[in-house]
Parts: sequence; C-alpha cells; structure tokens
Amino acid sequence: MKLHQLDNQISDLVERQVPGHSLEQMFYTDPDIFEHDMHRVVFNQWLLIDHESRIANRGDFFIVDVAGDEIIIVRENDDKINGFYNTCRHRGSKVCLNKEGNKKSFVCPYHAWCYNLDGSLRGAQLMGADFDKSTHGLHECHLNIYEGLIFICLADGSPPNFDEQVNRMQPFMDLHDLANAKVAHRYSWRLQCNWKLVIENFIECYHCLPSHPELSSVHSKAKYKAFGSGAASAMPEAMAEFEPELQAWRKQASSLGYTIDMWGDDENSGSLQGAQRLPINFAEGTLSETRDGKLASTLMGKFSACDGGTTAVSFNPLSTLLMPNDYAMIFRFTPISAEVCDVEIVWLVDKEAQEGIDYNKENLSWLWYQTTVQDGEITENNQAGVRSRRYKPGPYSQHEASNNTFLKWYLRLIG
Ligand code: FES
Ligand SMILES: [Fe+2]
Repeated sequence: MKLHQLDNQISDLVERQVPGHSLEQMFYTDPDIFEHDMHRVVFNQWLLIDHESRIANRGDFFIVDVAGDEIIIVRENDDKINGFYNTCRHRGSKVCLNKEGNKKSFVCPYHAWCYNLDGSLRGAQLMGADFDKSTHGLHECHLNIYEGLIFICLADGSPPNFDEQVNRMQPFMDLHDLANAKVAHRYSWRLQCNWKLVIENFIECYHCLPSHPELSSVHSKAKYKAFGSGAASAMPEAMAEFEPELQAWRKQASSLGYTIDMWGDDENSGSLQGAQRLPINFAEGTLSETRDGKLASTLMGKFSACDGGTTAVSFNPLSTLLMPNDYAMIFRFTPISAEVCDVEIVWLVDKEAQEGIDYNKENLSWLWYQTTVQDGEITENNQAGVRSRRYKPGPYSQHEASNNTFLKWYLRLIG
C-alpha cells in the first residue's frame, strides 16, 4: 500500500476508535499497519533482550529476531558487546547462520567476506585495489548495557535517551543487583498473534483468576482484584479489601528497608515506563513463587532477609522485569509479523548460586512457565477470534485500566 494511503487509512481507524474499547481489527491483523507499528513505536524503544552473562567470553554471540530482521549480539571483549544486522555488505546474504555460539570472526557463507567482532571488514577476496574495506563494515544497531542487561534500539536515527530512561529505575534495580546475576534458565515461545494482544494480556489481570490457577494459588487474590492492572484507583472496594494485607507487608518490608513507592507513566510518555513493589502473599507466609512457597534460590542483591515482595520494572511495554527476592525474570515480547510474536522468559539468579545446590530449573521456572503457557493459549485464541468477520472492538472492564493507557499511548504514537 502507498504510504499516504496507509496514513489516511490509519487516521480513519484512529478516529473511528471508540474510547475504552479494544482496537479495530486491522490493528491486530494488517501487515502494512504492522510495518507502521514497527517504525513509529517499536523501533523507537530500547528493547531489553537478554543478560550479558549469556555471552561471557570473547566471541560468544546469539541472534535475536526483531520483526523479521536478525540482529547478531556478540561480545568483542570484556567491556564491549556489539549488535549488528545479519546482512552482508557484499550482496546481503545472512552472515551468520547459527543462532548462537562462539566465533573468532564472522565469515559470510556466500563469497567469504570476513568480519571482525567489532563489525569491521577484515577481508574480501578479489575486490580490486581501489576497494575500500573501511566503508563496508556490518551495519550496527544501537546497544547499551545497564545492570548487566542488554538493550538494543533499531531506530534509524537517534535513539531515545537511554540514561534518562534507566536512571528512573535505579531505586528499584538497586535492591536486586542484576549486574551480579547470571542466566539460570530460559523458555521461548513463538505465538500466532499480534504483539499488541500479547502486551494487552500481560498488563491486565482480569483474566488471572479464571486462567491461572497456579498464579492465583501463590499470589494474593485480593491483590489481583485490587492491583492486577494497576487500576487500584478505579476500584476502591477491591482496594479496601487488599489494604490490610498491603499495610502488613509494607510494615515488614520497610523495617528491612525494602519499600519503594510505585509509579507509572501515562499515555503521553515516550516509553510508558513503570515500577512497583508489592507483596506476593505475605499473609500466608509465602516467600517466593514456588510450589511450596520456599525460596527458589539464594537471596539476590541487597536482600539479607526475605520480605515476601516482588518488584516489577517495565522499561517499555515490550521489556519487563519481575523480581522476587531470590531470582529475577526478563519478559521479552518481540514482534515478528502482523500475526506472530515471540515471547521469552529468562530466569536470572545470583551469579554465585549453584545449580542443584541453591536452585533447580524446574522449581525456579514452575510458576511462570505454567502461567506463560496459559497466556500463550488464551492470547492465540484471542487472535483467532479477532480474525472473525463479526469481530467488533469490545469494552474494557475497570480491571483493564492499564490496557486503556497502553492503547492511548499506542494510538498517539501511530496517529
Ligand atoms: S553476500 Fe556475503 S560475501 Fe557475498
Ligand atoms: Fe496471564
């Protein structure tokens, strides 16, 4: 579709959008709108993609797929990690065909151009005396490390101010010290649904009681009624029910020095960030999100005692951390195409924790593996139903206030 036609069509759709309702069908299914989403929204975010302990040694690399573009993330040396588009500067072949591994250099499988770990072109056979290697290095993407976390940005021009964004999170991140964490486990899913449905599902807990028996058994039900979507102010009765539990936990957490006020951006922000600490289920003595309520691994960061709380930090809607006292999870939501989205959870533990002694993967991943499998099913069902010829945007509940904020943010950015 021609660009101006698409712009007109999007303006019409945005105009037609009923406030407080889910999106018009095309926003969830149309390949042209997907491309528009990427350029107007996703490529302008700092995407949290992994922890640097995944590539601990020089030459370690992995590939991440963002909207059909492969990015090679490679460690150049102790202090430097680089991100390159996986496309050769000769005639565009993929330079790297492996998903992860270790390489001294990247040799293109087509005509054997050879690239250094800093992306510069080391050698290109038979290109003549006047060929300038220095102008044919791999295309780089913006990349930053914060607290051991790897972020990339695929903006064509300047990315948003990274330090400004992450510094806001510092009081929450300080508690957990992810710079001294290591990857313990990971699971990835390729879901047949639009990226916005994945996010909409993740940010509301209207579905938690019916869809997540394990989550609802470990976490406080009163919390989910009051806070599931950050909608506390919209539901004073639910909040009143949760208040005693929250106050009891705050007392305990503040005596240990671990309480921090929560905050969240509104739809006028650039990246829709937010951070909060809440109890898991202190009233019933649950310490962590494990089957038996005991710790899943050694305490991380500043925690010398368990406060039964969990920290959520969202750098943008596609990049979230959930962190109890004893482990942390990266939730990565990466759009692939109009009706495909990757979801990955990376479990982090203290770098000194030993597998089989301090933690085991099954226990560590039990709750959020189950929960994310359930989320995958309900979200794919959601996408399948949205494809119906009879689909019409439906109203959000009071408990889906976050969805409303997310959609207003999205519509502002693409409109
Ligand atoms: S396309 Fe890579 S060397 Fe030719
Ligand atoms: Fe869910």
